[in-house]
Formats: sequence, C-alpha cells, structure tokens
Amino acid sequence: MTTPILELHNISKSFGALDALRGLSFHINQGEVIGLLGDNGAGKSTAVNLISGIHKPTSGHLSVDGKQTLFTCRMDSAEAGIETIYQNTALVDSLSITRNIFMGRERCSGVGFLKLAEMRDIAMDVLKSAVHISGIDSPDMLVGELSGGQKQAVAIARAVFVDFRQELTLD
Ligand SMILES: Nc1ncnc2c1ncn2[C@@H]1O[C@H](COP(=O)(O)OP(=O)(O)OP(=O)(O)O)[C@@H](O)[C@H]1O
Ligand SMILES: [Mg+2]
Repeated sequence: MTTPILELHNISKSFGALDALRGLSFHINQGEVIGLLGDNGAGKSTAVNLISGIHKPTSGHLSVDGKQTLFTCRMDSAEAGIETIYQNTALVDSLSITRNIFMGRERCSGVGFLKLAEMRDIAMDVLKSAVHISGIDSPDMLVGELSGGQKQAVAIARAVFVDFRQELTLD
C-alpha cells in the first residue's frame, strides 16, 4: 500500500445556505491521472479551489503525503507542490512563450535588467525536456499566435517550471 500524494477526507463546503460540496472523499496516488466529472454546478471548481488553497473547507480535511494539512492561501498549496492550470490560462498574448513562462518571476541582473538570454535558454530546456508543445520549436513565438491547445501547453510549461527551477539551483 502506497501513501496517496493527495487525499480529501469527507470535505464539505458551504457558501451561506448553499452546500456546494457534501462529504467529498477521494485520493490520488503518485503517477495517477484523475478526471473529475459532473454537471454544471456540481462542485468541480469548488473542489479544485479547495485543493488549490483558494477556499477553506467548511468541514473535513486534506492530507498531502499522508499528513493532514490545512491550506489557508494559494501559497500554502504551492509549497505542497500543487499548481493549478485554469481553462482561462491568464497568459499575455502580446508576449513570447519565454516571457509568459517567467511572468512574475523574471530573472533580473543586480541593476534590474531582464536576463533575456538566460530566460530564453531555460524556456528552451523546459520545452525540450518537460513539456513538448506540438508545432512549437522556438520559445520566441508570441503566445497570441498559438492555438488554444498550444496555449494550454504553455500554461503547463509555466507550472512545470516551478519544479524545474529547483533542479537548476537558480538563486
Ligand atoms: N464563491 C461562491 N459563492 C457562492 N456560491 C458559489 C461560489 N462558488 C460556487 N458557488 C456555488 O457552488 C455550486 C458549485 O459551483 P462550482 O463552480 O464548484 O460548480 P462546477 O461543478 O465547477 O460547475 P461548472 O461545470 O458549471 O463549472 C454552484 O451552485 C455555485 O453557484
Ligand atoms: Mg467549474
């Protein structure tokens, strides 16, 4: 028996009088891909928001790697290794794939200049090793020129980069 990487135990979430979730329990093991299906208003986004630390459960709890935990904000879930990619990917069409991957965490020199070449090299590595986006071989392409699926892949590359940069021992 392996310990699930994420477990939801009897989670309920109410918004005022409305019960968005009642007694939701499931677990995800390492390497598993889980789909969450349900009607409009069934509570899927609410469940994702709970896992992402956006909402707090009204009752029940989450466990990460077997340890009971409470996410009080998005940073808590990020520290637990959870990245969320929304359908509306919040990318900037007028910027390159590189600039979108590094958005909000740009590499800068001591005097504040963007380290464009360094960011481009890392983006290239992410595209080559972690997230291969079909039809894309350069991180210089503008995101506005990509298809919907390619944009989602850039959003995934952005999420993967969070892990990737730890391996690169960036300061
Ligand atoms: N912030 C909120 N405040 C009040 N009610 C909310 C809030 N968020 C969601 N709800 C309600 O909770 C219920 C579940 O909504 P949720 O968005 O989780 O559904 P969903 O399964 O993602 O639906 P869809 O398939 O339409 O995206 C709905 O009745 C919704 O109106
Ligand atoms: Mg939804």
